[in-house]
Amino acid sequence: MLLQLLVLFVAFAIGGAEDPYRFFTWNVTYGDIYPLGVRQQGILINGQFPGPDIYSVTNDNIIINVFNSLDEPFLISWNGIQNRRNSYEDGVYGTTCPIPPGKNFTYILQMKDQIGSFFYFPSLGFHKAAGGFGGIRILSRPRIPVPFPDPADDYTILIGDWYQANHTDLRAILDGGKKLPFPDGVLINGRGLNGAFFTVEQGKTYRLRISNIGLQNSLNFRIQGHKMTVVEVEGTHTVQTTYSSLDVHLGQSYSVLVTADQSPQDYYIVASTRFTTPILTTTGVLHYANSNSPVSGPPPGGPTIEIDWSLNQARSIRTNLTASGPRPNPQGSYHYGMINTTRTIRLSSSAGQVNGKQRYAVNSVSFVPADTPLKLADYFKIDGVFRVGSISDAPTGGGIYLDTSVMHADYRSFIEIVFENNEDIIQSYHLSGYSFFVVGMDGGQWTPASRDQYNLRDAVSRCTTQVYPNSWTAIYVALDNVGMWNLRSEFWARQYLGQQFYLRVYTTSTSFRDEYPIPKNALVCGRASGRRTRPL
Ligand SMILES: *[C@@H]1O[C@H](CO)[C@@H](O)[C@H](O)[C@H]1NC(C)=O
Ligand SMILES: *[C@@H]1O[C@H](CO)[C@@H](O)[C@H](O)[C@H]1NC(C)=O
Ligand SMILES: *[C@@H]1O[C@H](CO)[C@@H](O)[C@H](O)[C@H]1NC(C)=O
Ligand SMILES: *[C@@H]1O[C@H](CO)[C@@H](O)[C@H](O)[C@H]1NC(C)=O
Ligand SMILES: *[C@@H]1O[C@H](CO)[C@@H](O)[C@H](O)[C@H]1NC(C)=O
Repeated sequence: MLLQLLVLFVAFAIGGAEDPYRFFTWNVTYGDIYPLGVRQQGILINGQFPGPDIYSVTNDNIIINVFNSLDEPFLISWNGIQNRRNSYEDGVYGTTCPIPPGKNFTYILQMKDQIGSFFYFPSLGFHKAAGGFGGIRILSRPRIPVPFPDPADDYTILIGDWYQANHTDLRAILDGGKKLPFPDGVLINGRGLNGAFFTVEQGKTYRLRISNIGLQNSLNFRIQGHKMTVVEVEGTHTVQTTYSSLDVHLGQSYSVLVTADQSPQDYYIVASTRFTTPILTTTGVLHYANSNSPVSGPPPGGPTIEIDWSLNQARSIRTNLTASGPRPNPQGSYHYGMINTTRTIRLSSSAGQVNGKQRYAVNSVSFVPADTPLKLADYFKIDGVFRVGSISDAPTGGGIYLDTSVMHADYRSFIEIVFENNEDIIQSYHLSGYSFFVVGMDGGQWTPASRDQYNLRDAVSRCTTQVYPNSWTAIYVALDNVGMWNLRSEFWARQYLGQQFYLRVYTTSTSFRDEYPIPKNALVCGRASGRRTRPL
């Protein structure tokens, strides 16, 4: 072990070498799963569906050797893990070559300056519809105060909508230019109706880390007879506010505290789709260890289809300015509202047909992957893979066209991004490599006057935000992480059919302090095939 550590220390010695290492070996296989009661072929990690949780502490180095035992190329991406100075590890096709069938690749992640609740998922094709996802938690270092007492236990709760069709059939529908049908159900930790089961002891308080790892629907989460206190959102400790139900949009993660303060029986845990007709609902069970009766009564109902309830809830979730984040200093000591933005990017989605096939776009460009990961093309200076500037800073209003869209951004700039949603569905956007301040959201069209209502004091910093139907959401981002970063819809069919692009955060500096060199073990593919990474 010591020798292995030494070897790794030498091999990966960059930046966080003094911080602890944690090693994982994952075997990714197909296997039978029965989430809705019928057999399906799932994607398992070490035989598990969902996959194992990653437990880590701020600044830990996480070394994960992933063996791809599927019959298709495979990649894992780390939702919310910033991979600072190291977009090569982001695990999306724009940054990282797929792991060929029968081969392995070792991810080298560092949980640099992060705390909180996140998840990982398979990023290629439509693998996410088959599993391969799991929770990631980053605990605070021992001496950094956490603004609530240690919970009695800490559970990962992955909720998401689910199809009975397998990922190859779903992908074939999309490749054929069609939209996917409505999902067949909702899962809680990979289980359908009454399958998920959590045991609690009366009087104790538990932390639940809830992530929506689904494909297309916002979900509402609630527990019969119990309140939930939101304490953390994607790495931000929040003002502790209590809710009887919580909207978790695609790709989002929340930590809540739940106290088992009711009489000893079993209670329903419910996850149901939002803003849909029909509403898909699934239940799990919160079981009191001293319970003397099974779940009873109807499961609690969710909020109405009106968006105001959800919008008001979103606005009520704020940063606890005096609490510590990953560092001992209070989260409020970074006064994001006092920094002038130097650029405004307005992004608007659209849906339509290109060459008779369904596509989705951002500012009229429907992203198509290149034959080579963009980050590798950048590193090896391979021309003709992508063009910076192939997507504009504002909606063009034009028809949808296909391109490998990459937007330039200056390293260390502080910018405003406005997501404009002129469609009548709810959207959810994720930016890899960053967390951003969600300064405002409202119905109607965004105008510069909308800035008057921004929250410039205690907005939460997170990596995934919803945009309500016919509404806008504005974020502020400090572009302090050099690399090629995916900005994407978390509505997975839309992402697959083009509603995404890459933000190339660029500096002319070649210092390792700004960006790490390509990892020595990086796979090469496409037009980068045969190129050498670095001499060992
Ligand atoms: C992965 O699991 C498969 C199926 O159980 C097995 O055949 C294979 O040897 C495993 N690979 C590794 C690297 O453990
Ligand atoms: C998906 O299901 C189809 C039948 O509907 C089957 O032919 C195919 O092999 C399955 N693929 C996987 C990866 O399970
Ligand atoms: C694949 O696994 C082997 C054996 O565990 C390891 O030595 C090697 O570095 C891995 N390959 C990559 C590309 O990570
Ligand atoms: C905010 O954090 C402080 C410092 O840890 C804590 O004492 C306080 O209870 C928190 N306030 C709220 C409203 O969450
Ligand atoms: C921000 O811009 C305002 C108005 O242009 C200016 O007065 C102020 O000094 C700027 N603040 C900073 C921190 O640069």
